Amino acid sequence: MHDKIVILTGAGISAESGLGTFRDVDGLWTKYDLEEVATPEGFARNPDFVHEFYNARRANCAGAAPNAAHAALARLERDHPGEVVIVTQNVDNLHERGGAAHVIHMHGQLDQALCAACGHRWPAPAVMNTADPCPACAAPATRPDVVWFGEIPYHMDAIMAHLSGCAIFAAIGTSGEVYPAAGFVDLATRAGAHTVELNLEPSSVVSAFAETRFGPASQVVPAWVDSLLSP
Ligand code: OAD
Repeated sequence: MHDKIVILTGAGISAESGLGTFRDVDGLWTKYDLEEVATPEGFARNPDFVHEFYNARRANCAGAAPNAAHAALARLERDHPGEVVIVTQNVDNLHERGGAAHVIHMHGQLDQALCAACGHRWPAPAVMNTADPCPACAAPATRPDVVWFGEIPYHMDAIMAHLSGCAIFAAIGTSGEVYPAAGFVDLATRAGAHTVELNLEPSSVVSAFAETRFGPASQVVPAWVDSLLSP
């Protein structure tokens, strides 16, 4: 089969690597106020606190290793004769460290810094501070290059084009609570794709999927990849 496969991933794929999800019991949004650490207004109110939050997440990510689900998607990308597009909502780099070559980070990346003054991007240091000057314009307006609530996700035109031309769409480890990603299944369905949800528990949009596979990502994702590569 030479068809295009588009895969949307969320925090659940990195859960078994030790990175917390957002909305599960013990999730990040049960410990932190989303308004304070994941909105432009929260950053304007208290940039030091927001930098501390993302510095801690960057450290967690550096100490984590990709799991069998990341590795299985890299294997699918390598061995599927058609195109495989991984679109992730995750700001970690575990897909890349698990061997995936082409990953679209729609919510940005912890390992990138962004100048809020001039838009310049550069590799983030392990610890970012409010006073860090932009290497391009020297403004002390450094922020993590992550998409906050109220901001527009990155690469939407490319993602829409991939969804309109895919034969298979899978959502892995995402709760279906955050749009536009939660609506991708509808776009893929309209494009005629087979849709499959792989998750620990049914997501909020589970009824939109043609197929479901429930369980930990480290188990269900390799099994799904096996079924695609050796039908
Ligand atoms: P959530 O925390 O909302 O959902 C995580 C999903 O992963 C849930 O459906 C869990 O059931 C599932 N899950 C947990 N452990 C799992 C495991 N071991 N294997 C498989 N699935 C598992 O995370 P996201 O859906 O990624 O955005 O959240 C979407 C966005 O909301 C994030 O990108 C972030 C957040 O606020 C921004 O910060 C802009």
